Amino acid sequence: MVEAGRLHGDRGPPVGRLGCGTLPHHQAAQRVVGGEGLGIDGEHSSTLASAGRYPVAGPQPGLLGCRVSIDVRPSEDAEKYLATDQLVWFGEVTDADADHLRLGLPTDQRFAVDLPDGPSDLHAGIYGVRPMEMSLPGDALVPIAGLTWVGVHPDARRRGVLTAMMTDHLARSRDAGTAISALHASEAAIYGRYGYGLAVLTHQVDLGRGTTFTAPHLEDEVAGITTQLVTMSDDGVAERMRACQLAAAPDFPGTIVGSPGFFTLMTSETPEQLRDKERRRVLFARRHGSDVGFAGLRREHKWADARPSGTVTVGTFTGGPAARLALARRVVDLDLMGTTKLENIGVDDPVLGWVGGPRGTGDLKTWDSTWVRLVDLEAAWALRSYESDCDVVVEVADRYAPWNAGRWRLLASDGVGSASRSDSPADVTLDVAVLGAGYLGHGIAGLLRAGVVTEHRPGAYAGLARAMRTSLAPEPSIGF
Ligand SMILES: CC(C)(COP(=O)(O)OP(=O)(O)OC[C@H]1O[C@@H](n2cnc3c(N)ncnc32)[C@H](O)[C@@H]1OP(=O)(O)O)[C@@H](O)C(=O)NCCC(=O)NCCS
Repeated sequence: MVEAGRLHGDRGPPVGRLGCGTLPHHQAAQRVVGGEGLGIDGEHSSTLASAGRYPVAGPQPGLLGCRVSIDVRPSEDAEKYLATDQLVWFGEVTDADADHLRLGLPTDQRFAVDLPDGPSDLHAGIYGVRPMEMSLPGDALVPIAGLTWVGVHPDARRRGVLTAMMTDHLARSRDAGTAISALHASEAAIYGRYGYGLAVLTHQVDLGRGTTFTAPHLEDEVAGITTQLVTMSDDGVAERMRACQLAAAPDFPGTIVGSPGFFTLMTSETPEQLRDKERRRVLFARRHGSDVGFAGLRREHKWADARPSGTVTVGTFTGGPAARLALARRVVDLDLMGTTKLENIGVDDPVLGWVGGPRGTGDLKTWDSTWVRLVDLEAAWALRSYESDCDVVVEVADRYAPWNAGRWRLLASDGVGSASRSDSPADVTLDVAVLGAGYLGHGIAGLLRAGVVTEHRPGAYAGLARAMRTSLAPEPSIGF
């Protein structure tokens, strides 16, 4: 995962899923923006400035069977924090890393664990939080904690360090009034236990040169759109990209928008990152002199039997349907290219409708994109809107955020949600991760058949799942 290119094809996960501290945090971000390389029990006593101490069951060397506690503290040593990350993610170390560390990851959002029995030179574990915004069903754009830079020293793994850090993260986020945490998972098996649900799927779609897109009712609008190719690192491009994402976000729930610093991180490329690669470009869609969308891309040469058959990889693809269509037509018609890879496309993205379904593409793969965690169930439930009504009493299990645990009446009426404590018998029993999985509108009804939830009143879970589901699948997010 060190090099963005390794994420393509069959060998690795798609762009956008490496956020959670996955190595080069900067590369994770770039991966999505521009495609190939274009692309975060205990007795918590924390204030944001203090350490949280979390009792964790052994084993620890010499302490087998004892209960030990692990302190999670704000990081005070930027070099040690970075060096720990570099060990965990075993990437190439470049001069750029120290600079990148400073972008989009505020100093007070970097946390570390040191264990009494080492390692001595590095932290036992680290994590960080990017302040980001996420669009929800309805038109709310809300602050979220973008969990990233998660890593545990190889000598300290499987001793509860991650568990302590996750407990700390949830308590701090709640203290800060942040109702939602989100991440991209390096491995799918890690975060469910901490109450994160798989909330968004993403498609990686390959299209042949000159693919025909059929969208008769968009043509009038598309006729008014022009496109403009610029270099991503050019002055002002990061701001233009961010403005496009912010504008499109309400119509594409699930969109995660980073801070201005995060966009600076995404758009900068060091010589080490570039090597023989093309600088990342951005294709803007413009109407009446204003940006209405963009595609981040990079081209790669390939010659097969003397014929040009390069690949253009598109990371982030943003804008309304007409802007996307204008952009899609240009990215499948770039000179010397044979294949266009759209690396981060929502399950209901119009592109599949334009080409007549999966067999109209060269290839299509599906991965998990954003994982969502309700840090504060009561607040989060009311932040989004609902497409159908429900009135369900839910027994919620939440081991790592015990303030959410217990019985809630989850109500959705005329689009508005409210959650309140209830003494009535539970209709449904589920883990808080299930509510995270459905929070952005992704279908969760199948989890009853899967045996992941328990229903005590027939039809109650279906009613809950129907209310949470949106008619269009949520938008995958940019890697962070
Ligand atoms: C993933 C990682 C952070 C786990 O840290 P850790 O301190 O070893 O985790 P813990 O000891 O707190 O483990 C808690 C539980 O999660 C399980 N777990 C941890 N990592 C897991 C993984 N990759 N796959 C499956 N289960 C895992 C543990 O087995 C343990 O289960 P248990 O409670 O049933 O015993 C660490 O292995 C690491 O740094 N990996 C490389 C970087 C990475 O992938 N970071 C995550 C970025 S999104």
